[in-house]
Amino acid sequence: MSNPQVSIIVPTYNESQNILGMLRSIRESIPSGVSTETIVVDDNSPDGTGRIVDDYISSLKKMAEGTIDVIHRTAKNGLSSAILNGIQRARGETIVVMDSDFSHPPQIIPKLIEALRQCELAVASRYIAGGGIRDWPTKRRLMSKFATMVAKRGLGIKTRDPMSGFFAFKRSIINGLSFDALGYKLLLEILVKTKDIRIKEIPYTFEERRSGSSKLDRGIMIDYFRSVWRLYRHGRTNTADERRTSVRFFSKAARFFTVGASGFVVNYAVSLLFTAGLADFWYVHASVFGIIASISSNFVLNKIWTFEDRDFGRRRTLSQYGKFAMFSSLGALVQLGMVFWLVDSHGVTYPLALILAIATAAFSNFVLNKKLTFKENLWD
Ligand code: GDD
Ligand code: MN
Repeated sequence: MSNPQVSIIVPTYNESQNILGMLRSIRESIPSGVSTETIVVDDNSPDGTGRIVDDYISSLKKMAEGTIDVIHRTAKNGLSSAILNGIQRARGETIVVMDSDFSHPPQIIPKLIEALRQCELAVASRYIAGGGIRDWPTKRRLMSKFATMVAKRGLGIKTRDPMSGFFAFKRSIINGLSFDALGYKLLLEILVKTKDIRIKEIPYTFEERRSGSSKLDRGIMIDYFRSVWRLYRHGRTNTADERRTSVRFFSKAARFFTVGASGFVVNYAVSLLFTAGLADFWYVHASVFGIIASISSNFVLNKIWTFEDRDFGRRRTLSQYGKFAMFSSLGALVQLGMVFWLVDSHGVTYPLALILAIATAAFSNFVLNKKLTFKENLWD
């Protein structure tokens, strides 16, 4: 038998009241002339969903344009991993993924398939004009918006509904990619890990399920933030100029602060050396040497390592050094002023005031040197 054109993946866990209606509705929605296979991925549902589908399949006469299969897994192993199992089994060039509780109206399937003529990934979207959500309490709406915002901001995703569980794609776009089956949101991983694919969003209205119960619980929400974090770090493993700008910003800031800590050591060692070791200076003079030495070593390390600037032309280097030294002194003044202000007029304890002041001075130092000394944009 030849391969179907479209594979529809339908994960189920305790959907005995929904699954047969869903399978019928899916079949009625498929445009004639399109061959499909529907793959139900059941995690040994205690309510017998898997068995119900088995019985249904054997009661069916041979269907005109579609087949139905069930993958029986032994235990509830999560939504993403169920979808991935379904995809492994799928034979179609086009894959459709959807829930089995009527939240995702099967009438949208033809629109998704149609959209794939002009793109490689079609997302059914609640958050574009014409889309929406029916019957969700305010709390759930806000949580969904918040999770969506975290994904878009944190991962730099432009798709309006990256948390959608209803989407279709050409299987070639995931060739060679490996997925972290943790969690609920496979689409998010696909959006982060694929490159240069065309994406379209098709509006639809999410209908709250009428039977059975949602599987979303606290553990799944925690997993969600863990998987966003992993995807965020995924950006680090790419080559330098593909890395997310925020990752680059923070890794440069981390280098800058590391250099600052090394400057502290240089400062201390040189000051001691000039009072006791090399020379026998008055301690105030020795401290001045310590400060100059640490500003200089900080400058060289930041130039070479933090800002990766290997151009040591004389004028350029001197002018950078001048600015760097000036910002360092300014930082010292900011720190002193802030400690005084916090302790004296706000009654903050000295150790806390010191931490706040050092952090402020170090950070403003970083920003000033990044922009003005090494002439970089703030965010790259
Ligand atoms: N096999 C398997 N294993 N199926 C599962 C599992 C699992 O561990 N967990 C959930 N499912 C199935 C459910 O039976 C249902 O068909 C579908 O996955 C979605 O589960 P629900 O519990 O109904 O999810 P929801 O409605 O709260 O969440 C949905 O929210 C998104 C929109 O915010 C997600 O499922 C998305 O698909 C949806 O777009
Ligand atoms: Mn649901």
